[in-house]
Amino acid sequence: MRGLLVIVSAVALVVATLSAQGNEKPPDAFSKAMRDNGEAVRAFRVAAKEFEESGAGAQDFDPFEQAAITMRTSFTTTMAYFKEQKSDGALALNEQALKHVTSLQTGAKERDYRQILEAFTALNETCASCHTAHRVRTEDGTYEIKLK
Ligand code: HEC
Repeated sequence: MRGLLVIVSAVALVVATLSAQGNEKPPDAFSKAMRDNGEAVRAFRVAAKEFEESGAGAQDFDPFEQAAITMRTSFTTTMAYFKEQKSDGALALNEQALKHVTSLQTGAKERDYRQILEAFTALNETCASCHTAHRVRTEDGTYEIKLK
């Protein structure tokens, strides 16, 4: 009986390994870049609320630019990873995200709140699309990367 149990466990392990195939553990720099993105999005939302509550003369565009700068750095890091891994689909989404970040940054420079919001909305859709297609939640609650 004991021998059988060992075999069953071994088979279960092989199956688990197979089902995880194709997914990659994110390098530390990748995860940090994504956490920075999460932080930048939070900071953006706080800034937008303050922006909308303050008077016209007091409105501060700097936090939007700061968020854009952070996300440009992050998406430059993750782009290098997807290039190296030859993950074309993720690369395309990564490029799209960078495009929205550029638009966000231009909007902040030109003090165009409407453009800032449009870029932010489009960017959030790109975050969600890539997470649906390329982010896999593992049983222990951490994430892996699905390259294809
Ligand atoms: C091109 C694909 C792609 C785009 C675009 C993308 N992500 Fe991610 N993100 C991933 C992948 C893959 C993971 C899983 C790996 C990881 O957690 O490091 C992830 C994980 C995360 C995590 C969890 C980090 C952790 O490990 O704790 C956060 C937070 C996050 N992304 C935020 C964002 C935000 C915010 C945006 C948009 C501004 C965004 N991501 C855009 C691919 C993407």
